[in-house]
This record gives sequence, structure tokens and C-alpha cells, in this order.
Amino acid sequence: MTSSRPLAVCSRRLPAPTEQALESLCTVIANPGDLPLPAATLAERCRQHGATVLVVTPTDRISADIIATLPDSLKLIATFSVGYEHIDVEAARARGITVTNTPGVLTDATADIALLLILGAARRASEGEREIRTDSWTGWRPTHLMGTHIGGRRLGILGMGRIGQAVAQRARAFGMEIHYHNRTQLSAEQEQGAIFHADADSLLRVSDVLSLHCPATPETTGFLNAQRLALLPDGAIVINTARGAIVNDTDLIAALRSGRIAAAGLDVFAGEPDIHPDYRELCNTFLLPHLGSATLQTRTAMGNSVIDSIQSILLNRLPSNAL
Ligand code: DGY
Repeated sequence: MTSSRPLAVCSRRLPAPTEQALESLCTVIANPGDLPLPAATLAERCRQHGATVLVVTPTDRISADIIATLPDSLKLIATFSVGYEHIDVEAARARGITVTNTPGVLTDATADIALLLILGAARRASEGEREIRTDSWTGWRPTHLMGTHIGGRRLGILGMGRIGQAVAQRARAFGMEIHYHNRTQLSAEQEQGAIFHADADSLLRVSDVLSLHCPATPETTGFLNAQRLALLPDGAIVINTARGAIVNDTDLIAALRSGRIAAAGLDVFAGEPDIHPDYRELCNTFLLPHLGSATLQTRTAMGNSVIDSIQSILLNRLPSNAL
């Protein structure tokens, strides 16, 4: 079946203003159930309806094999996310399909969550909250749930892009000393006094708190393994708001269990939502269900970014967020 209007296949429910804007531009084949659909089903819908646009999210794996089955009518794969490791961009390019993401608009929201995790992990917020919820709090006492003060501690930021810089800005206000590793050193103006480490291992050695802000790539997959965890100072805290694949879960769990790593604040996990079960059992983990960008304002801005990309494609222009 073909439509006279451009047609968009959408893998998940989107914020209401985004869905409305999308419907004003295209006929939308939506997913009212809002559970992840197999990528093959999305491709099948694109073929069946002669879609021009496929809107996806990080829960959709758009591999080269799937891209090979997309119809020639498809011009754009727009991901409702800044991360795009779930799409084979090269394979799409080879088929003349543009891929876009939503950079810039989720920087502050994600940086806020990183700070929430740093503070929550350092101040044992999760343990405290559990005591209240399980009615096991026996009252104030001088030695109860003593955490660690983050002021004066060194924050190591791995990946000093937009989000890394926004985390640094916030952490400075808490009196943390900022260190970072990045492929290239930032300008002095961007650094704002942060100390550059040309290699990642050197950063790890000084990081009382390590916060991950690099993309998941073949190079960063499993980066934080036992050898690298061993470089962190005793009692370090690990924070991940980037991608679960960057961490070797078994190794991090062993380090948390032994107390060598004091705590971890994690918003992202390998194999979400089926996270490694041991994370739940440990009392020194502060866990969130991938909430980095989850504010109404940010998700709406991400939607606007997706809509801008679709508008550009429908006007035969290259979207500004083309990868
Ligand atoms: C992203 O955009 O990549 C986040 O992980 C989800 O907002």
C-alpha cells in the first residue's frame, strides 16, 4: 500500500508534541503498544507502506542486515537519541539513506543525572532510601550510613564532549577538581582549569570519582575492565551515564563486592532492561533506569530535533544533524 503523503514508520511512542508535529508532516505508522518491535518488523512496515522515514530509538538495532531489507523509498533513519551505536551508519550511507541523531539538546539533562549519581553514590542515597521504604530505619545515630564528601575530590571525566563539559561545570560548583581524557585537548577556555590527561590510564590513576562520557564504539566496549578498575584509587566511585557496554559488568561487580570500588552510580546497562542481577543485590550501587534525557523539556527538544531532520529530508535538504 502506498500513500500520497510521505509516510513515516515510528518504532515507539514519542512525546505528544512530537507525535502531533510528525502527523502534520507525514502519515504515521505508529507503535501504539510502545514495546520494542523487532527491527525486522520495522523494516517490513517500511516495505509494506513505502516509507520515506523511519524513526527509531536506542532500543532498536538497525544493523546492516536490516538496512539491506529497507525499501528504496526510505530516505531517512532518524534516531530519537544522541547515541547512534544501534545503527549501522555506514551501511545506511551506502544505500543512500541519511541517518540523524539529536545532539546538543540533552546535554544539561544528562549532566544533571550524572551529578545526581555522583552525589547519590557518594552519600549512599539508595541505601538510605531503602531503609525508609523497608521500615528498617532505627533513627539518627552518629555512625549511620556515613558517605564521602565530594568537595576536594578529583573527578575524572572520560570523554570531554558537550556532556562531559557540562558535568565538569556542575562538579566545579561542588568543589571537585576536574581531570579529563579526550581524543584531543580542549582549548584553555573550554577547559576552565580542568587537567588534561593524554592517556586514559593516567586519568584513571587520579580519579576519586570516574564519570564515563564517551560513546560506545568497538574501541570503548568493555573499556572499564579489571585491569583498568585496578588503576583507580582505593575507594573510588564509578559513574556511567554513557552506555552500559563501556563497562565490564563482572569486573565492576567484583570490585564493588570487595569494596575496592566504594560505589557505582549507573544510569545505563549492557542488555537493558535485563541488567546484570548482581547490581540489584549490592548495597553500594545507585541505579537508575536510563533517565539521562528524561525530562519533559529535553524529550520535547529531542522530538523537535527529529522533526527538523524530517522536514529537511522532505525538502530534499541535508539535515543539520546528519551523521
Ligand atoms: C541518548 O540520547 O543516546 C540517550 O541515551 C537516551 O536519551
